[in-house]
Amino acid sequence: MKKHWWQEEIVYQIYPRSFKDSNDDGIGDLRGITERLDYLKDLGITMIWLCPIYKSPMADNGYDISDYFAINEEFGTMADFDELVKEAKGRNIKIMMDLVLNHSSNEHEWFKKALADKNSPYREYYIFRKGTREPNNWRSIFGGSCWTKVDGEDAYYFHSFAKEQPDLNWENPKLREEIYKIVNFWIDKGITAFRMDAINHIKKNPTYQSANPDGADGRVSVINFGRNQDGVEELIKKLSDKTFKVHDSMTVGETAGLSYDKYKNYIGDDGVFSMVFDFIPANFDLIEETWFKRIDWELEDFRKAIFNSQNSIQKYGWSANFIENHDQPRATSKILRGNDENIKAIKMLAGVYFFLRGTPYIYQGQELGMKNFVRKTVADFQDIQSIDSYKRSLEEGFSEEEAIAFTNLRSRDNARVPFAWTSEKYGGFSKVKPWLAMAYENPKVNAKDQADNPDSVLNFYKKMIAFRKNSLYKEVLIYGDFIEKTSKNKEIIAYQRRLEDGEIDLYFNFSKARVEEEIQGKEIIFASDDAKIEDGKLSLGEFGFALIK
Ligand code: GLC
Ligand code: CA
Repeated sequence: MKKHWWQEEIVYQIYPRSFKDSNDDGIGDLRGITERLDYLKDLGITMIWLCPIYKSPMADNGYDISDYFAINEEFGTMADFDELVKEAKGRNIKIMMDLVLNHSSNEHEWFKKALADKNSPYREYYIFRKGTREPNNWRSIFGGSCWTKVDGEDAYYFHSFAKEQPDLNWENPKLREEIYKIVNFWIDKGITAFRMDAINHIKKNPTYQSANPDGADGRVSVINFGRNQDGVEELIKKLSDKTFKVHDSMTVGETAGLSYDKYKNYIGDDGVFSMVFDFIPANFDLIEETWFKRIDWELEDFRKAIFNSQNSIQKYGWSANFIENHDQPRATSKILRGNDENIKAIKMLAGVYFFLRGTPYIYQGQELGMKNFVRKTVADFQDIQSIDSYKRSLEEGFSEEEAIAFTNLRSRDNARVPFAWTSEKYGGFSKVKPWLAMAYENPKVNAKDQADNPDSVLNFYKKMIAFRKNSLYKEVLIYGDFIEKTSKNKEIIAYQRRLEDGEIDLYFNFSKARVEEEIQGKEIIFASDDAKIEDGKLSLGEFGFALIK
């Protein structure tokens, strides 16, 4: 693979509502982020992925944009944004913007005009169908029909997500031109990296026909007809050729459900993106990505999922590695289950994914080892998808208790609780009650305490980041191939990173018991405290790990 500037990046994802509130209204904002840039600099990351900060009525926390050229008031002003970019640049930190282009908000000017007049050219910016009934039985991703009736008219409009998120009609060349303008506006402001929200949804199956239901509601999920459809890459390529390609931008596609045999067009030499997020490893605990269809998984399932992902992606290009984001539960709770407060286990888990081949992404709070926040009733959830998951679980015949349990395990609110800076009230995030309840009012897990403790998860992340970025082994850790290794021990995940002139073996112990491994290398180069080599064997203690040369 040809070398690219973005292969050396380490990306930190910020959920602006929940990072730092600078004006004490309970909502995180841009100035809050600027205030905390030194924390990020010290952590060692090189790029911030900002979840959407554009003007939005916040039906889906900013993933419903009503003006692509403006900043949402609760986050600040364009001047605050420019200040953030400038201050970040001064610390060698780049900014990645989140582009939500599959849909707009229902409060976008285009949609308002489309609704107001059925002969408006803006109708062609969206997907409308005439009729007195829902045009088909597709279920939207946040529940209910994909179609919402137009008031006072026998017509419906289409939405893959919530009804406040009408899908844009990418088949219309005029709409596409508007999109290129939006992207180039941000490129002209100096933004070099973009995360492409739900981008594989922009093409729909043109028949718009009903299909066999897959649930008790008589509907079938839109992901079968409105995601990864034939021809979607051509639409993305048109966009990319007019924008990112011209400027050598870094791009990461959110492409859930994309099968590996299609990766060439996405991330191959002539691919449309630099990298894409692979959700197969993220959803290894679920069937059909459905929260109430859970697998009683073993470590082997997790191992297979990440190895398969690495092997498949390596054939074509570069990966975007993550274990958390704003739509996922905390990895500690999801993968370590009962051991989600075990500091050794949290560090070991960090190492497993961080040293894989690809660009590592860290989601805010992951570097502290934050865990899920268990909610007791449906009223405690804010997230639109969590509320739907609860309703659907009941509809499918699960008990109230089961419905809450499934939702807790996967709720997007888990990752969205405000970041804990200190152990003060509201975690030093804000002086007032935050928009979303914190797991603890006086958080035990917080950045201040961890900064002062050399043994903390935070300090471990710093060391791990520095090791990838600056150590003698940098070249192989970044550019080396991924090679899967097997171990006789069921509780071990092992792999190798290899370049022509060297290789590193990595071993991770997912159990409390001490384990021994036959090894080839001689020297431990990075490891948990109790890892040692004795008589040619590697010995790892409780949740220990080692990189060996
Ligand atoms: C993506 C975002 C998610 C959002 C959805 C609709 O999956 O990550 O947060 O709800 O798209 O825009
Ligand atoms: Ca604020």
